[in-house]
Amino acid sequence: MEIIIQPDAEAATSVAARLIARLLSEKPNAVIGLATGSTPLRLYQELVGMKLDWRQVTTFNLDEYVGISPQHPQSYHSFMWDNLFGHINISVKNVNIPDGLANDIPGFCASYERKIIAAGGIDLQVLGIGTDGHIGFNEPTSSLSSRTRIKTLTPQTRKDNARFFGSEAEVPHHCLTMGIGTIMEARQILLLAFGAGKAKAIAEAVEGPITARNPASILQMHPVTKVCLDPAAASKLELQEYYRWVYEHKPVWQQL
Ligand code: PGA
Repeated sequence: MEIIIQPDAEAATSVAARLIARLLSEKPNAVIGLATGSTPLRLYQELVGMKLDWRQVTTFNLDEYVGISPQHPQSYHSFMWDNLFGHINISVKNVNIPDGLANDIPGFCASYERKIIAAGGIDLQVLGIGTDGHIGFNEPTSSLSSRTRIKTLTPQTRKDNARFFGSEAEVPHHCLTMGIGTIMEARQILLLAFGAGKAKAIAEAVEGPITARNPASILQMHPVTKVCLDPAAASKLELQEYYRWVYEHKPVWQQL
């Protein structure tokens, strides 16, 4: 894991945006895995401002709530169109977001996996992290080799996400999410975390044991994972000074 601690969330986001811009310039038909939530909002604003060419890009979103329509203002479909897709030149047919209204949920999830493979696999997956260490909606004790499937949200995640809905009661109980095995097959992973609320989950994921108790800890097994943090999210890392030192002393060819 490469731990990149920047002076603030803006600077950490800018590292992530530049990595994505570089990928698109090297591979205009890249396949990108995308996340929702507050963490990637600034990243999407920055990507919009960069005016990149998305015409050949294919995207797969990590997750979606079950039981709400794509038009619902809190669906992840709405989130993605409001915050990114509506402002870039991506082709609608290249956008993939799980269907929270699918009648045959297992069948839909299997087809989502097949679509990722048919697209050539995910080149770069953007991730946030939950306060409990979830990635996508893979809550603690999710199988570390799980595939796209239905999951039940924890009471904590429903509380955390209630701020987007009118009340906690309106937050769906279920979601569809890429599995941890699905995420681990991405060629490159970019995890973003900002704020003190994420410090414990980040410390456990980066420096703790690999355990399904903190699903993000499996990223220790991924060969190309970058973790972009602000100082608050990094504040519980024992080796934070070492990570800063490593980043400052990178060989020129490894820098962005
Ligand atoms: P947040 O959510 O970006 O809204 O904090 C992250 C997550 O739950 O993965």
